[in-house]
Amino acid sequence: MSSKNRIAVLTSGGDSPGMNAAVMEVARFAAKAGMPLIGIKRGYNGLIGKYSPQDSYTEMSIDTVLDIADLPGTYLRTARCEEFYQPEYQEKAVRFLRSINVAGLVVIGGDGSYKGAQRLCELGMPCIGIPGTIDNDLEYSETSLGFDTAVNVCMDAVRAIRATSRSHDRPAVVEVMGRNCGDIAMQTAMSTGSEVLIVPEVKNWKIEDVSKRLSELHRRGNTRATVIIAEGAYQTMKPFDVYDYLKDFTQVFPGEGISARRLAHVLKYKTGMEVRYNIIGYVQRGHEPTAQDAAFAFESGSMAVELLRNGIGNEVIGMRRGRIFHMPIDKALKIRPRFKRHIYQLVNSL
Ligand code: ADP
Ligand code: F6P
Repeated sequence: MSSKNRIAVLTSGGDSPGMNAAVMEVARFAAKAGMPLIGIKRGYNGLIGKYSPQDSYTEMSIDTVLDIADLPGTYLRTARCEEFYQPEYQEKAVRFLRSINVAGLVVIGGDGSYKGAQRLCELGMPCIGIPGTIDNDLEYSETSLGFDTAVNVCMDAVRAIRATSRSHDRPAVVEVMGRNCGDIAMQTAMSTGSEVLIVPEVKNWKIEDVSKRLSELHRRGNTRATVIIAEGAYQTMKPFDVYDYLKDFTQVFPGEGISARRLAHVLKYKTGMEVRYNIIGYVQRGHEPTAQDAAFAFESGSMAVELLRNGIGNEVIGMRRGRIFHMPIDKALKIRPRFKRHIYQLVNSL
């Protein structure tokens, strides 16, 4: 293969299940199209000369990628890159890519990574974005690589937590990831029959209302309800409640802000029930991809290579009504998140 049609791929931002599968598919479709592939390591850091060449990029052979496809994590490593917000580093990245004869770049990451790709496109380097984030906070696409896996991890964990809650007749608070997006929490609550859902999209929610709801459920015979809280929701809680109810607990947990542990303690204090807490954490990111995420990786890899092969850049790939599509990065980034309030209300209504 000549280096004429060479392209590159990188993973950036938080890792997400399916990133390796997407890299493998980019490699397989690139090989089929006769386009050599370079893997850029550690996100945008690999483009700006921050590390040694062997820590910054590598030729991707089919042999390598076949071994990594269904591994969790990202073989290329991922990272945030502070320097990349500055134009001089973006220009340096384009110069570097040109110096190694790269004519197009596939960026697998979230909205931050897409903004980096947008800058590279403006500087004349065609980029294609594949949505890689468990948070599902890219509104233009119905799903992103890793979201389905994260939800399945949460669902399995919550089912197990509900089993022990049931055995002991006691409620549980379960914190899931998602940054400022409540999608993982919402999907987890629906798929487990959880009774209480708290998401960052709802501003000024009150602990008082959550405790009333738990007490009401208890009165109706539900002694083992599950409260699913998205990690970003602590920031949107009504502060008055925090100060009012936490003052007794600051001595017990000094220096700790509101957290799943504190929420559970406040609820225990207010309802008189033995509320326990759980934080699901990084298993949501470090799991093997589900079939849905791996299949999305397959289609995304195929489309990314096809677009670059046709000289098209400045586009991102997404999924809508089960169909893969692409659209301009700028347009995709302008679509504001829409909160599925009806689902939130339904979960909290039963
Ligand atoms: P994600 O891609 O998951 O949203 P981040 O928001 O942390 O993750 O972004 C990943 C990286 O993308 C950042 O560390 C930075 O290198 C790059 N990036 C983010 N925003 C911009 C921006 N506005 N301009 C240039 N690069 C950006
Ligand atoms: O964006 C993915 C995500 O896992 C979020 O859900 C979470 O808030 C964040 O990354 C944590 O990032 P890190 O572990 O890299 O600090």
